[in-house]
Amino acid sequence: MPENLNFLCRVDEVEEGKPYSFPLGRIKVVLVRKRDSYYALNDSCPHRLAPLSAGGVAGTALPSDVGVICYGRDGEILRCPWHGWEFDLLNGRSLHDPQRERVRAYPVKVEDGSIYVDLSGRVG
Ligand code: FES
Repeated sequence: MPENLNFLCRVDEVEEGKPYSFPLGRIKVVLVRKRDSYYALNDSCPHRLAPLSAGGVAGTALPSDVGVICYGRDGEILRCPWHGWEFDLLNGRSLHDPQRERVRAYPVKVEDGSIYVDLSGRVG
């Protein structure tokens, strides 16, 4: 295994849609599973530093016509537990201001049933 990968846990230890926090030195990572995909973000909200791992995983309202509410992307949005900012698990960008407000998203690798995160990498 390359040196830049940090072991998090085994795949059978991760329930879908539930955030898990892993301290890795001075960094904490939040891991979320959606089906067979795994996403890792820095476990600290850029607003007031709440632990995102204490938040919920959900979907969000999609762009739609006036008067129409269209829900989608279930399991791909992580909501901060303190003030409700929402982050895209695929790239760490906030939904309300994706160019300015974001958390770092790390590459995740699964090998032989083990989940690893690359803290030197960046997604998005
Ligand atoms: S600390 Fe996350 S939205 Fe305020």
